[in-house]
Amino acid sequence: MIDLKGKGAVVTGAASGIGRAIAFALGRAGMKVALADIQKDKVERAAAEARGAGIDAVSLAVDVSDDGSVAAAAHEIDQRVGKLHIAINNAGIAFHGTPLQETSATDWQWVLGVNVLGVINCTRHFLPLIRRHGEGGHVVNTASGSGFFVRPGRKQGAYAVSKFAVVAFSEALEIELAGTGIGVSVLCPGAVDTEIHGSARNRPEHLGGAFERPAEAFLKDLTSQGMAPDAVAQRVMEAIRSDAFYIFTHASLRDPIEARHRRIMAALDRITPA
Ligand SMILES: NC(=O)c1ccc[n+]([C@@H]2O[C@H](COP(=O)([O-])OP(=O)(O)OC[C@H]3O[C@@H](n4cnc5c(N)ncnc54)[C@H](O)[C@@H]3O)[C@@H](O)[C@H]2O)c1
Repeated sequence: MIDLKGKGAVVTGAASGIGRAIAFALGRAGMKVALADIQKDKVERAAAEARGAGIDAVSLAVDVSDDGSVAAAAHEIDQRVGKLHIAINNAGIAFHGTPLQETSATDWQWVLGVNVLGVINCTRHFLPLIRRHGEGGHVVNTASGSGFFVRPGRKQGAYAVSKFAVVAFSEALEIELAGTGIGVSVLCPGAVDTEIHGSARNRPEHLGGAFERPAEAFLKDLTSQGMAPDAVAQRVMEAIRSDAFYIFTHASLRDPIEARHRRIMAALDRITPA
């Protein structure tokens, strides 16, 4: 998909951080953009700001972990945006500083519900809108560098589980959409300066409500030194235009990913070839 002008896009997690930056970048490229987020007021403000900058933008309240909510959002996109060409399935939450043994059933439901089922629900409901017009399009799923290796010392096992799943889902989707004119990318950033350290403030009531864990506090320092969201958005724009699958933003991910793969290869080397 080279020519974005006049085409339709949806970005989840668009009230803040990476999603907001991608929504603005797509809008500046001439797309009509639906900014979708669970933070209703905040996403309305983001869309109003986008309109102030000359972008054709609407806002939607959605909980990506809730299949019915995403189905309703898809219907609204159809009504308010028209033909959809690009879906950026980006909404996500952090879950750091908690060992697996202390991760409760509710914690798992929240992390996997938003980070994994969120991407799956959005693909299930947004992809048919892209397929319907036959003009092609692109799906971008936000995973993380943590979708390729487990970082020691951060106790982010549940988060890594969720992001590995997004990478696998995206790799499978790419295979299934080959030849359809719909490209797939998976966004795998390192630290980005966003509000992800405040994820717990927006945990829904039915999953235990807002909480604060001192063990997670390091995340704020880590991300505040991170890359600017606009720089990540530029990478995403390049990937959509060149139909690139993996979108990495941090060269520092090379060593840990290589180390993991070397360990896997060494294990394969130890078995006798059939
Ligand atoms: N910031 C980083 O360092 C970093 C690194 C790697 C990957 N990521 C990923 O990038 C994505 C965007 O995160 P960010 O860093 O911009 O954080 P952010 O907190 O600034 O933005 C995330 C947005 O998602 C929204 N959201 C959360 N739960 C939702 C739900 N159930 N339904 C709809 N919207 C929901 C939030 O309200 C928020 O506006 C996430 O998937 C995250 O895991 C971030």
